Amino acid sequence: TDATATEARAPRKLAVPDAQTVTQVTHWTDRLFSFRCTRPASLRFRSGEFVMIGLMGDPDPKTGKQKPLLRAYSIASPAWDDELEFYSIKVQDGPLTSKLQHIRPGDQIILRPKPVGTLVHDALLPGKRLWLFATGTGFAPFASLLREPQTFEDYDEVIITHTCREVGELAYGAQLIEEIRQDEMLAELMGEGFADKIRYYPTTTREESPKMGRITDLMRSGEVFADLGVAPLSPETDRAMICGNLAFNLELKAMLEEYGLEEGANSDPKHYVVEKAFLD
Ligand code: A2P
Repeated sequence: TDATATEARAPRKLAVPDAQTVTQVTHWTDRLFSFRCTRPASLRFRSGEFVMIGLMGDPDPKTGKQKPLLRAYSIASPAWDDELEFYSIKVQDGPLTSKLQHIRPGDQIILRPKPVGTLVHDALLPGKRLWLFATGTGFAPFASLLREPQTFEDYDEVIITHTCREVGELAYGAQLIEEIRQDEMLAELMGEGFADKIRYYPTTTREESPKMGRITDLMRSGEVFADLGVAPLSPETDRAMICGNLAFNLELKAMLEEYGLEEGANSDPKHYVVEKAFLD
């Protein structure tokens, strides 16, 4: 009978597929937070890549079934780190981030261990100077690459620009760079003096700060190059990675093409690569 069949079935487990445990959460502003979680032993990735992460969605009102709610997130930690770090926006009505912003240490998230992405050293030809151009949470893959030894083996100079609306949105990046510069363990791993290669260029567009304006406008006017004492980008010496909102990516990509740089890929390394920052 039906009753027997029900009893014979194994108890229903609310198993979370590919679960990882949250170890640390930091809220930077009312719109931004970062968190760390355990790393699956099997997960290999290249600094700069992203994975799909998320939570179980709400039960379907008809069937009661829950489906994973996943989004692409750049891994903000370097490939050698025991844990994984992510940097996220909080969107109050965002399907995932409205929930994800409430995670706490000990909670579980879903992490599909299939890293992919274009913001990797393999997609760039050798060069002298690496430009990392970010807006908003587009800083995340660069938080990984700025802690990756290869970044400093491959380049004499690494310029990281970060444009945000408000000063508070720069905090995650600013603090990370400060920590990188002071970390003795990193200096040992990356080689003494590596931190001197990092040039940090933060700008804001809607709140007063020491350097205001969109990075694209500051490049057009030549202000960035004057401030840093470097020549405008050229395909002979400069390589670039872009990660920000769509309009920014497209505008900067067109500018880099005007400087003579060409877009590279894993299978065809060239002068620059682009990836869109996640928005819920
Ligand atoms: P702005 O305030 O002038 O729009 P958002 O939070 O909307 O993703 O934007 C993050 C940052 O990127 C903001 O400082 C924003 O400047 C800037 N930004 C947006 N679009 C572009 C673009 N096309 N080129 C350069 N910067 C941009």
